[in-house]
Amino acid sequence: MSQKRFSQLRDYEIPIGDSYKLDARKKLGSGAFGDIYLGFNIKEGEEVAIKLEPTHTRHPQLFYESKLYMALQGGIGIPKLHWCGSQGNYNILIMDLLGHSLEDLFNYCKRHFTLLTTLMVVDQMLSRIEFIHSRNFIHRDVKPDNFLMGRGSKKHQVFAIDFGLAKRYRDPRTGLHIPYKDGKSLTGTARYASINTHLGIEQARRDDIEALGYILVYFMRGNLPWQGLKARNVKEKYEKIKEKKISTSLDSLCQSFPEEFKIFIQYARDLKFEDRPDYSYLKNIIRQICEKNQLSFNYSKYDWILKKNADSSHEEQKENKNKDKEKDKDKDKEKDNTNNKDNTH
Ligand SMILES: Nc1ncnc2c1ncn2[C@@H]1O[C@H](COP(=O)(O)OP(=O)(O)O)[C@@H](O)[C@H]1O
Ligand SMILES: [Mg+2]
Repeated sequence: MSQKRFSQLRDYEIPIGDSYKLDARKKLGSGAFGDIYLGFNIKEGEEVAIKLEPTHTRHPQLFYESKLYMALQGGIGIPKLHWCGSQGNYNILIMDLLGHSLEDLFNYCKRHFTLLTTLMVVDQMLSRIEFIHSRNFIHRDVKPDNFLMGRGSKKHQVFAIDFGLAKRYRDPRTGLHIPYKDGKSLTGTARYASINTHLGIEQARRDDIEALGYILVYFMRGNLPWQGLKARNVKEKYEKIKEKKISTSLDSLCQSFPEEFKIFIQYARDLKFEDRPDYSYLKNIIRQICEKNQLSFNYSKYDWILKKNADSSHEEQKENKNKDKEKDKDKDKEKDNTNNKDNTH
């Protein structure tokens, strides 16, 4: 049966498992550990995303990541896991196909989000993080590249992906928290890492929240002050980022933004290692900023949606103008013709 199905594959299509095919022409992204391709469920024709990892990689992590997806299934904004296995030289994970990442959309919007868009996405990112924490895991790589918008009926919803660095922070049965440790090397992405992560302290829930605080500022400023620092090697670079993060006052970091940004980051920095972040308190802060600025959440007003509408109506206008020009030319020609005719009289 599946043999028959697969016999109709084109040369750029690769069969995966019993029911999927990968489109080798359509790479969706490439990560540190492998590539992601567009694929299809052959039976239903449904589009999926296929994450590949070479089996001989030094630190395989795709099966670990699949366990995380399994543990998080059913959560709002968590992509569905379709299949996981090995084939040829690859470990393979198949999941829901999602839309663009927040980093892609940020670039599309010329690296600036309005306050409303910033708050609408950060509010959802906070909910995803709260859910992941509720399932006993910390993400440890909270950044705009790892949050994607959905597609179709879920295109307004923010999804969390990339659980390769996630870690269980408490025992699901006893609730016992992992022990405090230091001397650890940096896990995650330096730009968004918490100060404690730079200092080598074992990460906990508070560090996902601090990273989100930096993202809040990043979306509105367009960058963070510790970006683009020159260094001779990675170690020196991390050192410089750490120093700059520590020496930048929150006042100057959040200058010209609502003062609640500062409160958000300060709150995260003040949390103790085992503390449960007060997610509702943080959500209230977001709500307060909205109220003060007379904004209300409206998911058809994301910056990228408004820009796309504006771009396409601009295109339409251009097209119409061109059409008008063509019409004018035709009219002129007609006139010329009549004039010529007139002249013959
Ligand atoms: N389900 C998906 N749907 C669409 N694009 C995806 C999906 N998963 C990943 N991507 C794209 O691939 C990129 C890398 O995926 P990710 O899981 O973050 O891998 P890595 O661990 O290598 O960073 C993402 O930033 C995104 O652009
Ligand atoms: Mg990633």
